[in-house]
Amino acid sequence: MKRLGVNIDHVATLRNARGESHPDPFNAAKFVKINGADSITIHLREDRRHINDFDAKKICSIKNLLVNLEVSINKDIIKKALRIKPNYICIVPENRNEITTEGGLNLKQNKNKLKYIISLFKKKKIRTSLFINPSLKDVLLAKELGSDCIELHTGRFANLIKSKKDIKKELIRIKKSSKLANDNGIKVHAGHGLDYRSTKILSKIKEIEEFNIGHFIIGESIFYGIKTVIRNFKKIIR
Ligand code: PXP
Repeated sequence: MKRLGVNIDHVATLRNARGESHPDPFNAAKFVKINGADSITIHLREDRRHINDFDAKKICSIKNLLVNLEVSINKDIIKKALRIKPNYICIVPENRNEITTEGGLNLKQNKNKLKYIISLFKKKKIRTSLFINPSLKDVLLAKELGSDCIELHTGRFANLIKSKKDIKKELIRIKKSSKLANDNGIKVHAGHGLDYRSTKILSKIKEIEEFNIGHFIIGESIFYGIKTVIRNFKKIIR
């Protein structure tokens, strides 16, 4: 059974637009869980543009809620994450000027740092994941670094679908990376830019165990409600 992780960062984006306390990501975390999310994802960005430290701490204290915390390799963020102690950690690249995470990690360039960070989280029994581009080289590097999981960046694939372009090559990349990871004992997740159509195609890949989806879920919920949107995704990935 594939799992659905719901990224609730944009609940905080909406709250912050008003500078007040509503809508509260803490309530959103509890609400999406009740309505079928297998886990929730939050990204504690260096610029705190959505989720802040207080949100992260509070959300991680919710009983029986699996929290996947996305973090960059910034020293202070890693320190905070170790203190907050989420169930899962996903290490992502971060660039102040980007609107959203634009690509996978540069594993080669950050090899030693990543290896060290992964070991810190593993010591605390936190599941580790690396957000990577669908590339065989990166899958093998992720294995070398000792990560439990990889999350394949599906942004390119999702954009090809949205712009009605040929998806064949990118789909093959995702399939081959998933298989190689699985053959090497690494759990496979996928996320970024996904909507119903792209998720439906990727859910046919048996090695992908978890989807992490945010923007589309929150956006679509404006029209249909988050309960319905989660239910639709759960049906798609079943
Ligand atoms: N997975 C990772 C690692 C991400 O960084 C993001 C975006 O924060 C997502 C999944 C969700 O992407 P989207 O909001 O486009 O669904």
